[in-house]
Amino acid sequence: MTGSSASAPAIRVRGLRKAYKDVAVLRGVDLDVARGSIVALLGSNGAGKTTVVRILATLLRADGGTAVVNGFDVVTQAGDVRGSISLTGQFAAVDELLTGRENLVLIARLRHLKAPGAVADELLVRFALADAAARRVSTYSGGMRRRLDIAMSLIGNPPVIVLDEPTTGLDPQARLEVWRAVKELAAGGTTVLLTTQYLDEAEQLADRIAILHGGRILVNGTLAELTALLPPATVEYVEKQPTLEDVFLALVGHDPNLGDASRGDSNLGDADPGGSGAATPAAPTTNEDQS
Ligand SMILES: Nc1ncnc2c1ncn2[C@@H]1O[C@H](COP(=O)(O)OP(=O)(O)OP(=O)(O)O)[C@@H](O)[C@H]1O
Ligand SMILES: [Mg+2]
Repeated sequence: MTGSSASAPAIRVRGLRKAYKDVAVLRGVDLDVARGSIVALLGSNGAGKTTVVRILATLLRADGGTAVVNGFDVVTQAGDVRGSISLTGQFAAVDELLTGRENLVLIARLRHLKAPGAVADELLVRFALADAAARRVSTYSGGMRRRLDIAMSLIGNPPVIVLDEPTTGLDPQARLEVWRAVKELAAGGTTVLLTTQYLDEAEQLADRIAILHGGRILVNGTLAELTALLPPATVEYVEKQPTLEDVFLALVGHDPNLGDASRGDSNLGDADPGGSGAATPAAPTTNEDQS
């Protein structure tokens, strides 16, 4: 169910304000997330990213402004918002004592789905966890937990997914796997808002990048629009040394015996190092433009 027309943004935030005691964290946040797109909300520690996503997920009340998810107002239509959005929090919310499959079946049951086992099995395959399905989550690597956590958030096919720092603490290979899962989600029509402190994550994944700083969205645009904000650098011809990430992935990327065996099919080619996801150039929007 959708609360507004298909062309309206999946998330629309206007003038959002929030203070903790007398510390103003959000001071007028404006943000749109188009349907089926990936938007990265970028900001330093304490910028207010988690505060924004908690307000969107109806876990926290804003002091002012409006937030609409899938056409529903987070305050007056909170139940409809909760039916439209899935939040994967900053810290993995999986049950360590259950197996991966049991975690998925549990959520499918809680959501009253008809065939919880089949739903779980499909997600286990999709997130490369089938081999580890019957193992307790306490034996999973960080990347496997994160993948399971994201898989759990997809149960019931919510149209809007919010991922709060989905790859913090993951090794480079596990990050690539989470990125691939997120890209697949958006390709399937799901709207994704993710928060991150990693600039490369925003570059690789997001159609648009919004930078939250000082309680406001400083800039919001495609990667091309954002890079166009600075004058072009002078071209100098120097040898390009491989980055540490290049070396790490070249050495461990193909070896299924290192790390988590279920991701032995990892392919460096999927890293898309040059791809930005940024497409149609248009004037970048700034907070000033929107007000
Ligand atoms: N319940 C709370 N009570 C008081 N202050 C809070 C509370 N929750 C968050 N804050 C403060 O609000 C600010 C924004 O916090 P928030 O968690 O939204 O930041 P963040 O951008 O998600 O940071 P991080 O990158 O560290 O996750 C921080 O200064 C934080 O200390
Ligand atoms: Mg946070």
